[in-house]
Amino acid sequence: MSDQLPEFKKPPVSAQPSNPEPAKETPDKQNPGKPEKPAKKPAFFPFRKKKPSAPETAPEAEITEKLAAPAKPEKPENEKKLNPRPKGVPKVKRNWPLRILVVLMVFAGLFFVYQRLTDISDFVISFYSFDEQKITSPIRMAFLSDLHLNEFGEDNIELVNTIAELKPDLIIVGGDMNMMKNPDTSIVLTLCRQLVEIAPVYYGMGNHEYDDVLFRSSTIIADLSALGVNVLSNKYMTIQVNGNLIDIGGLSETMDQFDQYGIKFWKKYDEGAKNYRLLLVHDPGYFRSGMGKLREKNIDLALCGHYHGGQIVIPIIGPLYHPQGGFRPELAGGYERVGDTLVVTSRGLGNHSKLPRFNNPPELVIIDLY
Ligand SMILES: [Fe+2]
Repeated sequence: MSDQLPEFKKPPVSAQPSNPEPAKETPDKQNPGKPEKPAKKPAFFPFRKKKPSAPETAPEAEITEKLAAPAKPEKPENEKKLNPRPKGVPKVKRNWPLRILVVLMVFAGLFFVYQRLTDISDFVISFYSFDEQKITSPIRMAFLSDLHLNEFGEDNIELVNTIAELKPDLIIVGGDMNMMKNPDTSIVLTLCRQLVEIAPVYYGMGNHEYDDVLFRSSTIIADLSALGVNVLSNKYMTIQVNGNLIDIGGLSETMDQFDQYGIKFWKKYDEGAKNYRLLLVHDPGYFRSGMGKLREKNIDLALCGHYHGGQIVIPIIGPLYHPQGGFRPELAGGYERVGDTLVVTSRGLGNHSKLPRFNNPPELVIIDLY
């Protein structure tokens, strides 16, 4: 028996273990001084899209492709700014003559509409019918106002023929048929000469006639009277129409002169008139709320004008403005019961202002009382 121990042989180290286990993260024993790399923490906003990091080096294929492609010439910087059209969008040619034509057509259309809406060469007819207790048999009256020397056909033949066809029992003129400071009243006289052939004419003063009478020695009252027109300048008369007695009067004063001058006529009328009381009052302001001096008075029917229907009429909003009536004037047209008084306001047949009548055609009013 030998004393020597058998030689220990190292088992051969195989390059790959036959049964390899997954490598565990162990501290680097070969570099013990190096701190252990901490495990990567999850992103705080896991939903945030990570920016793709640029590859440090372009793939070989890409490099080859870039080298193979011919270098594109760089566009000048100013050209890029002028033409921001994205790639793929076809270039549209601007047809300037066509554009100019479209703009001109739009302007022509707007001008045509404006002309139509401000045209005062034709008139409309408004018909009103009222059941009045004091009226025992029907009466038809034609009511004209604010012609301001306008003409519908030569010598106003269109207006005259229309009135004749409607067969009124009496014709009432509400004033402002002339133009203040214009001494030529031939249009008014020519019209009234024809009207008196149709029916009796009763003429109330507007501020345009009355101003000329007071301050410019106008002879219009005498001229109209000579034609057979009944001029009602601060006077009234009792007439009989189809068996009905009517006290028809005309107040000439504007509202600011009423307390000084107009009151005299009003007292006379108020005390003397016993029948159906029809008063021509050019200014409807006499019946406006808060300021009207003839509100709550004993008047059956008041016929007014003056506001020209509010001059500018806007759809839905209505009458917009009149120099004397202000913005959205009350009683600018149509009719309204003010206390016991039925107030009918004509929108007028013409214009005197530089402000056009817009969407507000001249109007002839026909009133039936029964
Ligand atoms: Fe007027």
